[in-house]
Amino acid sequence: MKRHRGRGLAAAGIALALMAGCAPADDNGGTVPNLALVPLPAALEQVEGDPFELSADTSIEGDPDAAAALLALVQARAGLTPDGTGDATVSLRIEPGGVAESYRLTADAASVVVTAADPAGLFYGVQTLGQLVARDGERWIVPAVEIDDAPRFAYRGVMLDVARHFHSVETVKGYIDRAAALKFNALHLHLTDDQGWRIELDSRPELTELASGMAVGGDPGGFYTKADYREIVAHAASRHMIVVPEIDMPGHTHAVGLAYPTLVEEPVISDEIRRVAQEFGGGLPAKGTPYEGLAVGFSSLRIDDEATYDFVADVFGELAAMTPGPYLHLGGDEALGTDPDDFAAFVARASGIIADLGKTPVAWHEAGDAPGLAPSTVGQYWGYVRPTDGADAKARAFVQNGGGLILSPADAIYLDMQYPGKADLGLAWANGPTSVERAYSWEPGTIVDGVEESDILGVEAPLWAETLRTAEDIDTMAFPRIGAAAEAAWSPATGTSELRTWDSFRTRVGGLGPLWASQGIAFHPSDEIPWATE
Ligand code: ACM
Repeated sequence: MKRHRGRGLAAAGIALALMAGCAPADDNGGTVPNLALVPLPAALEQVEGDPFELSADTSIEGDPDAAAALLALVQARAGLTPDGTGDATVSLRIEPGGVAESYRLTADAASVVVTAADPAGLFYGVQTLGQLVARDGERWIVPAVEIDDAPRFAYRGVMLDVARHFHSVETVKGYIDRAAALKFNALHLHLTDDQGWRIELDSRPELTELASGMAVGGDPGGFYTKADYREIVAHAASRHMIVVPEIDMPGHTHAVGLAYPTLVEEPVISDEIRRVAQEFGGGLPAKGTPYEGLAVGFSSLRIDDEATYDFVADVFGELAAMTPGPYLHLGGDEALGTDPDDFAAFVARASGIIADLGKTPVAWHEAGDAPGLAPSTVGQYWGYVRPTDGADAKARAFVQNGGGLILSPADAIYLDMQYPGKADLGLAWANGPTSVERAYSWEPGTIVDGVEESDILGVEAPLWAETLRTAEDIDTMAFPRIGAAAEAAWSPATGTSELRTWDSFRTRVGGLGPLWASQGIAFHPSDEIPWATE
C-alpha cells in the first residue's frame, strides 16, 4: 500500500482537495468524505487505499467500555448495530506506556485498530473514530488513515452556570457527553451565585431550603441533592472528566444572605447596577429578598466576621469530601461590593482553607495578586484575547505564585455570547456578538505575556446561563463554538499546519453536522460554516 507519509495530511494532494470541501467520486462511484475531525489530531495522515467498510457484521473487539462507546456512536451515526460475525474488525486496546490520554488509530480496508496509553486515550480514539464514520453512497466507511494523537494541555474544561438558571441532572449529563466527545476532561460547575444556591450540604441545610428556589427572571430554581451530585461526578468519570465545583465568593453571594443574613453585607448599589436593572429588569437587589436580575458586583460576604470562615470551612470541607477531582473553585470574580484589601485578605484565607483540605484552589484572575494567596492556586483568566485593565498582570501573578493558568478569554470562548445576527439567546457584553471565526481565531500561548507553555494548565469554555433555560438553549449556544475551544485546548498551536487554521476548521466542523444531528444536538446552523448534509 502506498502511503503519503511524513508531512501530515496536507502532503497528500487528495487530502488538500478534501479539506477544501471537494467530494470527488471514488472507485465505488460514491463520494469520498471530508475528514471531519475536531479537535484536530496532533498528527494525521491520509493513507492511499480502500477505506474500511463498516457494516452490520463488523466485529468490535477489545476493551468493553470503549466498545460500548463506539457502538453508541455507530448506532447514532449509521443506524448500524455490528454483531461481530464478519472478518472485518475494529480492535480497541490499551497498551500502557505512552503519553497520558494519547492514542493511535489506523484504518485500512481490512481493519481499524485503536491503541491507547490509558482508558481516557482509548475513549478519545473512539471519539475520533466516530467522527471518521462517513456515508459513501450506500455504505458506511472509515477512510484509510493513520492518526497519532495526544493533548496539548492537561486541563480541557467546560463550565456550566447552574445558578442563574438551574439545569437538571439529565441536562448536565448530556453536556458531559457532548463535551467528552470533543476530548474535554473537566466540567466546572458554577454552583452558586446571587440568584441561587444549587448544592445540598448537610452542614448548612438552610442554603438549599431557603436559597435555591429562584432563578433569573422569576424562573423556577432547583438544586442538586448529594445523591444528584454523586451521579454527576460518576457520569463525568465514566467519560473521563473530573468535576470542578465552584462556590463563588466573596461576591456573587446575595443568595447566601437568604439563608444566613448575618454572613452578608448590605448590597452596594452603583450606577452600573441601576443601569443593568433598567435594561434587563429584575429590580434592585435588597437584602433578604431573592434577586432575579442580571446585575453583578453588589453582594459581599462579611470579611471581618469569623463566622464567615466557619461557613467557608464547612462548605469547602463538605465539597472536598464529595469531589474526587483535585480542584475546588472559590470564585473571586467581580467582588465590586468588597473593599479591595478585604477582598485580598478573604481570598488568601479561603484559598488556604481549600489547600488545607488537600485540594488545589482555583480562582478567577482578580484574585491573582492577593498577598498570601495559597501557593499553587490555579488562576482562571477571563479577560479578553487582548488583555485590558491589568487582567494579564493578575493572571501572571498566579504563575509567579507557583500556580498554573486556565485560559477562558471572554471575547472568544464565552459560549453564552450572542452569535452575530441572533439576539434571542445570550448576552453581548464581551465585545459580543461572537462569531465562530472569532471563537476560533486566538492562540493560548499569546494571551498573557511572560507566561510559558508549561505555565498554562489548559483552556476552559464557560457557558453562563442568564438567558439559557433549556438543554436546547445550551446546545445552541455551545455548538459549534465549543469545537473552537476544544481545538484550542487539545490541538497543536494555532497556525502550526495548514489544518490548524480557520479555513480548515470551518470545513471540518461543518462535516460534523450530520453526526451532531444524529445525536440530537441542537447546534446553531451558523452561516459561517459549510455544513455537510449527510
Ligand atoms: C466572570 O465572567 N465573571 C468570571
